[in-house]
Amino acid sequence: MELSGAHVVITGGSRGIGLAIARAMVAQGARLTLVGRDRARLEEACREVSGLAVAADLADEQQLARVLPAAQAAHGPVDVLVNNAGVNVASPLGRCSAQDLRTMMLTNLYAPLELTRSLLGPMLARRRGVIVNISSLAGDWAMRSAVGYGSTKAGLTLATRTLQRELKGTGVVALLVVLGLVDTDMTAGAAESDPFARAGMERFAKQLAPLPPELVARRVVDALAQDRRRDLVLPATAAPLHKLGKINTRVADLLFARLPPSY
Ligand SMILES: NC(=O)c1ccc[n+]([C@@H]2O[C@H](COP(=O)([O-])OP(=O)(O)OC[C@H]3O[C@@H](n4cnc5c(N)ncnc54)[C@H](OP(=O)(O)O)[C@@H]3O)[C@@H](O)[C@H]2O)c1
Repeated sequence: MELSGAHVVITGGSRGIGLAIARAMVAQGARLTLVGRDRARLEEACREVSGLAVAADLADEQQLARVLPAAQAAHGPVDVLVNNAGVNVASPLGRCSAQDLRTMMLTNLYAPLELTRSLLGPMLARRRGVIVNISSLAGDWAMRSAVGYGSTKAGLTLATRTLQRELKGTGVVALLVVLGLVDTDMTAGAAESDPFARAGMERFAKQLAPLPPELVARRVVDALAQDRRRDLVLPATAAPLHKLGKINTRVADLLFARLPPSY
């Protein structure tokens, strides 16, 4: 997709990976809408990238419903939605509060799907649009202290694969981005809140060093500019394992081949 002039909505664009993606997008000439809860931090990010700030808690149904109308009123139809906002409260399930569990489910899984659902009508009508879902290796692996977080990411990964099949031939694309450790507040927060998560991350980091968010952002922007369809897995050394996990889907594709299109 030509990013110059494209309207790109980035959830969680106020810091971490989302802000790095916003900076990389604006360098390509994209027009940005950024979403986050902390209004002051969001507005600061938006000043830097000349973006529209939509302060909203995506875990709140009413605030979630305001996001796309506000973005579209200011910048017109959305060309790219980057479902990036995420929360990871690391703990074994028995020690996770009901509120933390709910916040992860709503922010990491329900909100991306609901934003996507709302955008599909206009995107399909224009035969144009990309949905970028930022998922995690925690959604491929069964990691202790990540029952909540990992299941939301597994859900997002499966939802993206399913969308790719539903959207075939429509001109609308769903791109799956699967990340290992990235050096952000989220990684530090998860390590602080849970001893297993801290030890697990230390072990992981010895094998695969945490990535800088700027590198992730560059690769996401390149993927969009090059109309990439294949999953983007970072670090790339994790890609073969991720690919192995797709065998079930490939077998199911054979079973469901040549059925009528979804749209
Ligand atoms: N860091 C990693 O190692 C890693 C690895 C794999 C995947 N990921 C994924 O990458 C994405 C970005 O993570 P990150 O590391 O950049 O995290 P981060 O530094 O903690 O940033 C999270 C962003 O999401 C926003 N956010 C969180 N909850 C929200 C809510 N309920 N409503 C609206 N905005 C919300 C935050 O802003 P406010 O707090 O102001 O709302 C912030 O902008 C996430 O989906 C994460 O799961 C990260």
